[in-house]
Amino acid sequence: MSNTELIKGLNEDLAAEWGTLMRYTYQAAHASGIQGEHLRDIFAAEAQDELGHATFLTDVIVDLGGVPTTTPKDFAKPDTIKEMLELDLQMELHDVESYTSHARLAEEAGLAELKVRLEEMAADEAGHAREIRRILRGL
Ligand SMILES: [Fe+2]
Ligand SMILES: [Fe+2]
Repeated sequence: MSNTELIKGLNEDLAAEWGTLMRYTYQAAHASGIQGEHLRDIFAAEAQDELGHATFLTDVIVDLGGVPTTTPKDFAKPDTIKEMLELDLQMELHDVESYTSHARLAEEAGLAELKVRLEEMAADEAGHAREIRRILRGL
């Protein structure tokens, strides 16, 4: 396994993180009413986690000799809070799978620290998914 495949995978994750950061920022601005006030705080907190992920991935891609993407993955912009959260849940679960699979690539490449960090990021995204699921149950 060459680092090329790993770098490509990490760049897909990075594009997803930039997109998620923008999506939560966009959604926070569209969350209105009493319900929206609480959601704004949640979106803001999750956006901070995604920025941390994007920063880490950017550093790692450079360290591996790659060129980190600065292009966010595009995202849908549904009208209602419920549809927004359903989209977020779907995207968070996608990210869990992606980090889990790239952690395996990192392990195969003998990059033990990267493997662990990617697994931690998968756990962060699983935590986001759990929080979104909890909110969705109450809507
Ligand atoms: Fe993330
Ligand atoms: Fe997330």
